[in-house]
Amino acid sequence: MLTIAVSKGRIYEEALPLLAEAGITPIDDPQKSRKLILETTRPDVQLVIIRATDVPTFVEYGAADLGIAGKDVLMEHGAESLYEPLDLGIAGCRLMTAARVDAPPIAGRIRVATKYVNIAQRYFADLGIQAEIIKLYGSMELAPLVGLADCIVDLVDTGNTLKANGLEPRELITNITSRLVVNKAAMKMKHQAIQALIDQLEITLAKR
Ligand code: ATP
Ligand code: PRP
Repeated sequence: MLTIAVSKGRIYEEALPLLAEAGITPIDDPQKSRKLILETTRPDVQLVIIRATDVPTFVEYGAADLGIAGKDVLMEHGAESLYEPLDLGIAGCRLMTAARVDAPPIAGRIRVATKYVNIAQRYFADLGIQAEIIKLYGSMELAPLVGLADCIVDLVDTGNTLKANGLEPRELITNITSRLVVNKAAMKMKHQAIQALIDQLEITLAKR
């Protein structure tokens, strides 16, 4: 049995057609079902439906053999313990700093609100900027508006969320897409099945 960890929402929606090309379609629709383990049209493959940020943890501990996770989540988690054989090119966005449109350039000693504490810490340290990082779990855009932080580190796609809140993107930290990750022990123990799936996904991606 191969277990693949996927989060609900945009990653799931964009991963579905890719998995379908490999013959993997869930029997139940996770958007409707309350089930957390989904059987698929392939009797040897099941999906576990978890929070996006939990995917690296499940795969690292071998609770799932494979997973699909955003590069942002992998960078924040520290994914050295996982194989990352494929860039799936889905759920594309940018990890950026952002500030109020009327705020001065980011410099000096600053406060930064983000859910990406580790990434932000590394980013500002590399720039030699003294940053106090404030961990938030959502609605980051609010922080500069209410004086909680000078800037935020968050994902930007269309830029609409920033714009709607009087913020603007400043510096690009990195481009983000979702990746296939594999548990290292599973890669050895279930090599044939996992390699076949990687090969199949690679063929599908090459056609895109
Ligand atoms: P959680 O459920 O753990 O809070 P989340 O709400 O961030 O996670 P999603 O919004 O589904 O979950 O995001 C999952 C992944 O999709 C992110 O880690 C990122 O890689 C990517 N992503 C997030 N926002 C966007 C966006 N606006 N456009 C494109 N991709 C995005
Ligand atoms: C993500 C991200 C930004 C927004 C950026 O939020 O956290 O807030 O998308 O996209 P945009 O540039 O196209 O506006 P999401 O929609 O996932 O909401 P959530 O973080 O509350 O889950």
